[in-house]
Amino acid sequence: NTTLLIDTDPGVDDALALLMAYRHAKVAALTIAAGNVGLTNTVANALKLTELVGADTPVHAGCPVPLVLPAADAAFVHGRDGFGDTGYLPATRTAEREHAALAILRLSHERPDQLTLVALGPLTNLALALRLDPTLPTRIPRLLIMGGAVTGRGNTSVPAEFNIGFDPEAAHIVFESWPQFDLVDWEATVRHAIDFERFEQWLAMDDQRARFYGAISRRTREFSHARGRPGVLVADALAMAVALDPACVTRAEERHVSVELTGSHTRGATIVDWERRSGRKANARIVLDVDQARFEQLVAAALGA
Ligand code: BDR
Ligand code: CA
Repeated sequence: NTTLLIDTDPGVDDALALLMAYRHAKVAALTIAAGNVGLTNTVANALKLTELVGADTPVHAGCPVPLVLPAADAAFVHGRDGFGDTGYLPATRTAEREHAALAILRLSHERPDQLTLVALGPLTNLALALRLDPTLPTRIPRLLIMGGAVTGRGNTSVPAEFNIGFDPEAAHIVFESWPQFDLVDWEATVRHAIDFERFEQWLAMDDQRARFYGAISRRTREFSHARGRPGVLVADALAMAVALDPACVTRAEERHVSVELTGSHTRGATIVDWERRSGRKANARIVLDVDQARFEQLVAAALGA
């Protein structure tokens, strides 16, 4: 009976991950990062999603900008509003006053050893929480991060994946301070694309979640198609599958992962010590493959199957 604390920047695939979370687990709170689009929109989208599923989960806005350098959003994929520019009616709920980083710390005290923390966006809020209180990991038994490109095939620059590339300093803080986390990277996402036709069939189901996701994901599905992908890429949904069903992992490797902060070509890249040369203890369990059928079952059920 997992209780999730989800840090997210919704974002189209974040929305699918959230639908999965609400279908299969309890959600203690949503803490919101800037990333795919600006914070005002990511907060509004999170509130909208909770209303869609009839949840009263507290939503906490976090940092509006990365820790050090300005970053570029991903509105060209997710739409200017982050939800595919479908013009949906705004939510009537509002966000909490407490900052996301403070909510993470408070919940870790209120529910020690009970929460699975799932990070689906840039790691700015989590880094801030860790700087405020470095003992945070002792109270959170499991952290799962969607981020990185473990052999250097990124999606935002040549080697960098978006969540890490958006705020490399934040990712650096988290990777250096969290003793052991699960990492679901972009390259795993590409290996676990979901067949276009099967996805369309789920979206045609008579369910408001399928209708909503079908509308907001039109552009990202077209994007996967245009890029010649073998199917729909849903990074955050894959990470959520691993959070909800740890046994769906079929291949994983424990290694030390660090984040490149400089470099004319490599800022934001994840550097994996594959050959164990650094002498540093593994901080990440890198999820390389999952059982595709189990993953897809979790997605389909979240859309109403
Ligand atoms: C990640 O970046 C965002 O665009 C997605 O929501 C996902 O979290 C994939 O690189
Ligand atoms: Ca995301």
